[in-house]
Amino acid sequence: MKAIVPAAGLGTRFLPATKEQPKEMLPVVGKPVIQYVVEEAVAGGVSDVLVVTGRGKRAIEDHFDRSVELEDLLERSGNIEKLRQIRNIPDLANVFYVRQGRPRGLGHAVLCGAPHTLDQPFFVMLGDVIVPKGDCLPKLAEIHEKYGASVLAVEPVEQQFVSRYGVIAGHEVEPGVWKVTDLVEKPPVNEAPSNLAIFGRYLLTPKVMEILPHIDAGRGDEIQLTDALKELLKHEDIYAVTMDCPGYDTGNILSWIETNVAFALESEEYGAQLRESLTKMLG
Ligand code: UTP
Repeated sequence: MKAIVPAAGLGTRFLPATKEQPKEMLPVVGKPVIQYVVEEAVAGGVSDVLVVTGRGKRAIEDHFDRSVELEDLLERSGNIEKLRQIRNIPDLANVFYVRQGRPRGLGHAVLCGAPHTLDQPFFVMLGDVIVPKGDCLPKLAEIHEKYGASVLAVEPVEQQFVSRYGVIAGHEVEPGVWKVTDLVEKPPVNEAPSNLAIFGRYLLTPKVMEILPHIDAGRGDEIQLTDALKELLKHEDIYAVTMDCPGYDTGNILSWIETNVAFALESEEYGAQLRESLTKMLG
């Protein structure tokens, strides 16, 4: 299966860091966010990754390309472990690129991938969301196989935070699997139909590519993927599945810091030392 990785947004919540630098290239414990996404795609059985980029996003393409001078230097200095890491990056996956001329919203970014996915179901993996455990895409594929429908990964969030997310309404058809009856983008806390938030991994049927060109700009004057999914619901079933492991949104400064702390605490290299430093800092 193919995956579309939208990465053409302007990252306004992360300015000024993202003025000239893609937010998808910000590091999480030494590795750019989008490399985690591509690694997850490959681990989930994806053959082709299509990254939707735009102006100012060249660093993404360069990252997945060879770096001849760097490789020479590491080879000459005998830094074999780093050399292995760097050489491995261009071989991770078949990565393709399409440019979104203007960031007109997530729905529009997904539509830019239509010539690539043709009439096949495909994954959408947000380029600024990391899902560390490898079972998300296989789970989406399993539910898709079973019900023959689009499937959204959802995560229960605290009720007070629902207005930050797209939220589903639906009924549970088996443990952890919902048949979706409605989708609401960033609902007010008291109007949210559930606390199940869509967190950046989707398996969509090709019908959505027929619908997207007819979706008008909605919230924030952007073509919203959620609006297209609401329309899709009129034609096809949509399911949602909860994941055991949370996704990490790195698209705003606080959650990027939290992601780094969470990953560093888990790392063999930095975990113990960071724990010690944090304990000292917190007094
Ligand atoms: P976000 O809404 O988090 O990205 O989209 P953004 O628009 O860059 O964020 P802010 O609000 O300005 O800070 C989720 C993913 O979809 C991509 C983004 O690059 C991000 O990886 N995206 C968003 C596009 O590819 N194109 C768009 O028009 C919008």
